[in-house]
Amino acid sequence: MTRDTRRAWSQRTASLGQSDIRAMTQACVQIKGINMAQGVCDTGVPPVVAHAVQHAVDLGYNIYTRFDGLPQLRQALARKTAHYNGFSPDPETDITVSAGATGAFHCACMALFDPGDEVIVFEPYYAYHLHALASVDAVPRIVPTLPPDWAFDLRALEEAVTARTKAIVVNTPSNPSGKVFSRAELEQIGRIAMERDLFVITDEIYEYFLYDGRPHVSLASLPGMAERTITISGYSKTFAITGWRIGHTIAAPRWAQAIGSMNDLLYVCAPAPLQHAVATGINELRQEFYVELATEYQAKRDRFCEALQRAGLPPSVPQGAYYVLADVSLIPGKTGKERAMYVLEKTGVAGVPGEAFFQGETGHRFIRFCYAKTEKDLADACDRLARLT
Ligand SMILES: Cc1ncc(COP(=O)(O)O)c(C=O)c1O
Repeated sequence: MTRDTRRAWSQRTASLGQSDIRAMTQACVQIKGINMAQGVCDTGVPPVVAHAVQHAVDLGYNIYTRFDGLPQLRQALARKTAHYNGFSPDPETDITVSAGATGAFHCACMALFDPGDEVIVFEPYYAYHLHALASVDAVPRIVPTLPPDWAFDLRALEEAVTARTKAIVVNTPSNPSGKVFSRAELEQIGRIAMERDLFVITDEIYEYFLYDGRPHVSLASLPGMAERTITISGYSKTFAITGWRIGHTIAAPRWAQAIGSMNDLLYVCAPAPLQHAVATGINELRQEFYVELATEYQAKRDRFCEALQRAGLPPSVPQGAYYVLADVSLIPGKTGKERAMYVLEKTGVAGVPGEAFFQGETGHRFIRFCYAKTEKDLADACDRLARLT
């Protein structure tokens, strides 16, 4: 890309490049393969949520809401957070409903970071986090987590904090590794944040996708942490409504106010009838819905991981979320990209090259697959992977 005329795109745009996920999706469409690259859920929307949309339109929820969201959604989120996440936000001052968790993260970055501020991000990372940080000229500092359990080295984390560090980003359950941070790990992160006076931004969008009885721990629920933690979540994944764009931040009032101002500036508000429908879902769906969700996805995880193992692509079995990193070292090719193309051509199954999630050479060894697919597509993908043997 060049900037040789006055009418050039910004350096910010130039630094984004084309997403590997989009590139693999296009290659997959061309050969009519099964797209396990993109994190869209092909599963159904809970009927109570789907039906609530028309009802909301009929009731007149068609105009702007308050910048931080409909009161009934903020109240539903406050109750859910107290019950599920173990801390108690004030729906009047702490919660900002935004355009998905993505919009929420972006607003938090705009509200909290100045150019040159350093932000610690664990690797493998969700590339959107890096791009959102880059879009406000913040500087990501990468701390690796290592397979098989994607643990981080406490010393490495401590040493990554400099005089310019302003925050640590935690994504639990994590995309792409499926790591679920334990309470002990979160306590270590919390201790460092307190000692060095840092924010922690937690992306908990997969908070209900947990396997093998593992609990979800929200960092804001740890003693003293609510004041410095920006908790981000949303219903894109839990209600399979990625296209609705409903997410939120929870933060102490002074941070929430700044995040809310950015939300007002960028989006004015999240879509009104969809906010109403999500509130209905939160209020009406019982505990069993969430238990069944985790059970259903654990079965998908097990089925797909077994197929990967049989195909000679050993999986790093995820503890949560709905992605799996498979080791593709034995597949012909030098990079994750070459290997992902090989797998696509041989089997018609598209995954994302590991380079999308790692800075160094580790990415060459991995492909990420998303198993949030219908039973039929998942069965088909498992059969197709057998072509590698
Ligand atoms: C870690 C993580 N955060 C956020 C998102 C996006 O969430 P939303 O659709 O609510 O913007 C995704 C989607 O893939 C994700 O993996």
